[in-house]
Amino acid sequence: MNDYTSLVADDAVHGDIYIDPNVFEAELDAIFAKAWVFIGHASEVPAAGDFKRKSIGRAPVIFCRDETDSVQVLMNRCRHRAATVCQEDCGRTKRFRCEYHGWTYRLDGTLDLIPYADAYDDIDRSTLSLSKPARIDQYRGFVFASLAPDGESLIDFLGPAVRRQIDNFCDLSPLGEIDVRAGSALLAYDGNWKLQMENSIDGYHPNFTHQSFFQAVHEQSGQRVSTFDGDSDAQTRAMGHGHTLLDYSRPNLTPARVRHRIEGLERSPAGRDYVAAMVDAHGEARAHEVIALGGTHMNVFPNLVLLNQQVRTIHPIAHNRTEVTLAPALLKGVPDEINTQRIRQFEAFYSPNGGGIHDDIEMFNRVFEGLRCAQDPWLLFKRGTHREEQAEDGTTVAHVTDELPQRAMYRYWKERMWV
Ligand code: FES
Ligand SMILES: [Fe+2]
Repeated sequence: MNDYTSLVADDAVHGDIYIDPNVFEAELDAIFAKAWVFIGHASEVPAAGDFKRKSIGRAPVIFCRDETDSVQVLMNRCRHRAATVCQEDCGRTKRFRCEYHGWTYRLDGTLDLIPYADAYDDIDRSTLSLSKPARIDQYRGFVFASLAPDGESLIDFLGPAVRRQIDNFCDLSPLGEIDVRAGSALLAYDGNWKLQMENSIDGYHPNFTHQSFFQAVHEQSGQRVSTFDGDSDAQTRAMGHGHTLLDYSRPNLTPARVRHRIEGLERSPAGRDYVAAMVDAHGEARAHEVIALGGTHMNVFPNLVLLNQQVRTIHPIAHNRTEVTLAPALLKGVPDEINTQRIRQFEAFYSPNGGGIHDDIEMFNRVFEGLRCAQDPWLLFKRGTHREEQAEDGTTVAHVTDELPQRAMYRYWKERMWV
């Protein structure tokens, strides 16, 4: 294999990492076929027989729940002559039946039926189950799979800082459970998957890329909206393994902000019920903390983003083609009004007719156009290198507009591409 690690410096990356198809093929091998890859949330397949089509890198997989209530990840490839056995994006079924020659599989992947089986004089069905990734594991319903039989556990791969963010995301429910069943938006663009990962955690761009959205909100509501500027005390945080965070805890957890947030909710009966249920479930301090944080804003390398109320999955298709699924996560055990509000907030920015997400896609298109200029091929991720600091918990922090998350992501990318 070629060595592509020279394409990543400490504070810059070479344009070829986006546009060279060979780099993409190497990423499929070194990253998507080895690391823990996010598949889906268990709540997407709540009952036996529920399934969704997903992917690991370019490989199609079926995410489903079997009769024993276990979540399964099955390679979507018939053991006869490789046709996919599931074509529907989602649904409920008793069996997966390959439509080429009719081989039929149970929900746990075992082979149930071969048509005209008497023609096979020597076939061991037990060896012909749908294949599975070597390892499947989950944390709070977030299901990951790895095609590599060996390597660190999912818990170690996520690490304590990421797990705490997932806890913050789920503990917004008094039951501690999210429900990712409100549908999703699908984005596709002619650009590289890493552009979406970079951008999801980019605190530098919103005031520019999304200026028109903020202006429209201002015109309609009189409210001045902007995100981060030079004075913000929000931070970026690198949490190891390429996982990164826009950390709003400093501004959001001041006593005044917490009070403001709780009092705002308590103005409506539904909000009051919600706060009361949260305090009952988690105790006042944790309930207020979680509500004031309002979720998280995190990248889990290589393909998961949790952003406010949203679960975002990145699907690499080719070096110049990416699909992104954006799904609002509802909260279990809360008044309907709270979930309605979450969906409305999601739609305002991220749905196909929302005001924000298209801005980002337009920037990916522009980057891809600009990359056709091959002179001076390095992209700069230098912002804030001088103000990175080690935190006590081993994470690294910098200002919220700094490019620490991108540097951290590429440092880990380089490690994985080296192995
Ligand atoms: S390819 Fe599936 S039954 Fe033949
Ligand atoms: Fe954006």
